Amino acid sequence: MISTTTTTTTRFASSLLARSIRGSAATAATTTTTASTINNSIRIQAGPQQPRFLSTNEAALKTDVHAVLPEVAEAQRIKYFKVYRWDPEQENQKPYLSTYPIDLDDCGPMVLDALLKIKNEQDPSLTFRRSCREGICGSCAMNIQGSNTLACLAYIDDDCRKATKIYPLPHMYVLKDLVPDMGNFYEQYRSIEPWLQAGDETDVDNLPTPRASPGPDGNTKLRGEYLQSREDRAKLDGMYECILCACCSTSCPSYWWNADKYLGPAVLMQAYRWIEDSRDKNTAKRLGDLDDAFKLYRCHTIMNCTKVCPKHLNPGKAIAQIKKRMAHANQS
Ligand code: SF4
Ligand code: SF4
Ligand code: FES
Repeated sequence: MISTTTTTTTRFASSLLARSIRGSAATAATTTTTASTINNSIRIQAGPQQPRFLSTNEAALKTDVHAVLPEVAEAQRIKYFKVYRWDPEQENQKPYLSTYPIDLDDCGPMVLDALLKIKNEQDPSLTFRRSCREGICGSCAMNIQGSNTLACLAYIDDDCRKATKIYPLPHMYVLKDLVPDMGNFYEQYRSIEPWLQAGDETDVDNLPTPRASPGPDGNTKLRGEYLQSREDRAKLDGMYECILCACCSTSCPSYWWNADKYLGPAVLMQAYRWIEDSRDKNTAKRLGDLDDAFKLYRCHTIMNCTKVCPKHLNPGKAIAQIKKRMAHANQS
């Protein structure tokens, strides 16, 4: 789900100051207050109140907060968040960082809590994806303090002397603010055919436990389950839990430079998940499809992928296993 910009001022009539913070205070003071105007480096939000600005100068921030958000300035623990901003609808706009103060005593513990608070109370134009807020959907993946992770699983660093910097996932095209274009990633996922290919499903001899059961059309047919031993099922552990957040792929230098041809760790681990599935009958074809200098062998075992995975999975190991299976297959 994309948390999108809303320009209707009535909807946010009761929200706090709608403003974005960038550039020097002096520049801000000379900027006009036209809604949705980009004036040099300053972006101004439309809002019921007069827009106001904070300086990007760290030393001046405290003073600015007193002037702009007195209720936050009274707080004992003010944390600053510097967030990447870019709006393709603003002509000639270059990406910039907006700075937002948050009272940590009035905010949840996670970075996603801070982003939601900023959006709800300070800047409704801030755009990011989120849905489950518990590390299940994978949509809030972003780069927080230099590391790819899920905003809903990342605790806010409560050292208020340092601002927390938030960027979109690196080396991806950006649609807006913190929202990357995942199109290529999902196309690559589609290319590995991520579903069970257990042979001819109309061949009842192929079903280990055929039994008669009524279908949705009311006709009784022989159906069955593809059974798996506990040992074979256990081989999928550590792979089926992947939520396709792309934190690993977008932290991989090989993927940065060859994202059009190299499948990257997330998709390769999913490919291996189906190669390793004892019920799947297309193992040889799956391996053959990956036997490519770019699709698989661009992995140089740098292991950034495994280091950043917020679900503590090991895509680097899965890639090594594919290479091993490939070597065996090519020998025999
Ligand atoms: S392996 Fe981990 S980092 Fe990579 S997509 Fe899956 S959950 Fe995300
Ligand atoms: S181990 Fe392979 S996939 Fe993982 S970061 Fe390194 S090069 Fe990329
Ligand atoms: S909101 Fe779903 S993983 Fe963070």
